[in-house]
Amino acid sequence: MIVGVAREAFPGERRVALVPVVVPGLLKAGFEVLVEAGAGLNAGYRDTDYVEKGARLAPSRSEVFRDSDVIAQVLCYGSNDPTGKDDLALYRGGQTVIGFHRPFGSLESALQLAASSVTSFSVELMPRITRAQSMDALSSMATICGYKAVLLAADRLPRMFPMLTTAAGTITPARVFIIGAGVAGLQAIATARRLGAVASAYDLRPAAKEQVQSLGGRFIELPIEAADAEDKRGYAKQQDEAFFQRQRELLSRVVAESDVVIPAAVVPGKKPPVLITSDMVKSMAPGSVIVDLAAERGGNCELTKPGQRVIEHGVTIIGYINVASTVPYHASQMYAKNLTAFLLHLGKEGKLQTNLEDEITRDTLLTRGGEVVNARVREFFSLSPLPTQES
Ligand SMILES: NC(=O)c1ccc[n+]([C@@H]2O[C@H](COP(=O)([O-])OP(=O)(O)OC[C@H]3O[C@@H](n4cnc5c(N)ncnc54)[C@H](O)[C@@H]3O)[C@@H](O)[C@H]2O)c1
Repeated sequence: MIVGVAREAFPGERRVALVPVVVPGLLKAGFEVLVEAGAGLNAGYRDTDYVEKGARLAPSRSEVFRDSDVIAQVLCYGSNDPTGKDDLALYRGGQTVIGFHRPFGSLESALQLAASSVTSFSVELMPRITRAQSMDALSSMATICGYKAVLLAADRLPRMFPMLTTAAGTITPARVFIIGAGVAGLQAIATARRLGAVASAYDLRPAAKEQVQSLGGRFIELPIEAADAEDKRGYAKQQDEAFFQRQRELLSRVVAESDVVIPAAVVPGKKPPVLITSDMVKSMAPGSVIVDLAAERGGNCELTKPGQRVIEHGVTIIGYINVASTVPYHASQMYAKNLTAFLLHLGKEGKLQTNLEDEITRDTLLTRGGEVVNARVREFFSLSPLPTQES
């Protein structure tokens, strides 16, 4: 069974799906690894590094797609709007594709993927169970994003982060406020603290309080309680507009007093709530910075322009998307470890098994045999359940 890695096709993408260090483990499990020449270069991995670890090189993308049984990708069709569609023509029936597919993004792309007859697994659908932690690519990329968001803010902020007592006087520490203390938010708190800032955070899930405090952050409690804050998978539940309105009112003061605000409040498959209005931006001191980690799906700040950095009311608002790709060496390393753990989970004696009794396999399987087969995705797009899914 050949696992193929082509150069990522999303414009500007620097990550690569597998890195050299994971190759020996795959070979040992009976896989072969075929890598397009130059695929890892933008992430800092040379062709010779792959070859030394036992991978073979292919001269072109089309050869990787032609000769591989499994295609390991970062951004597959669905999560790569500009160029992902070109992959459909390269897929062979019976081939398996693993990567980010943005499964709740567009029904059309899910149906087209199904029609291409590939078996696809979407890493976003990985269940949040202990057994699957080593395969959780969303958490890996969120870790990178949380870290980088703080660096982006520090770079733009006209102030330093740490408190300093110098002969020229005392410098007060920057105040960093994080909204949404999930994986990205928690890493942002840890990074801001390492740089010496005073970090505080808010999340509608009460369970987040202890995690924020354990990283040395102050948890901001608001006198508002979310109905049924957390679902059984650990994600926040969608709230109504009246709740968000109240959140905005209560968050106003904290936002106004912060030098940096990093909103990362999302609910899977839903448009992120607007938690920072134009008036709230106006209330911040000139030079303050907002790094909107929800930008990819519209943003938590009303003035965010996805993919851009803008200045509004004297406040820099960064809405970059695909932030994980800007730390490509470690983003690729973490992603490759996640994918390898997943491949080793699916593979037995060098063959992929699609055992639907297994929660990890069943939950991540997106398309097979020409159909969108994932029950959550079918329900999300109001497709009728498949006969085997009816209970
Ligand atoms: N294998 C596992 O057990 C596992 C793996 C990953 C994450 N987790 C846990 O799951 C939880 C969510 O993780 P995530 O980072 O993927 O979440 P996420 O990216 O879906 O959301 C980010 C954060 O935003 C918060 N949020 C959403 N709407 C909000 C609002 N209106 N106001 C304030 N906050 C809002 C969420 O509660 C969440 O903490 C975390 O507790 C994390 O530790 C568990």
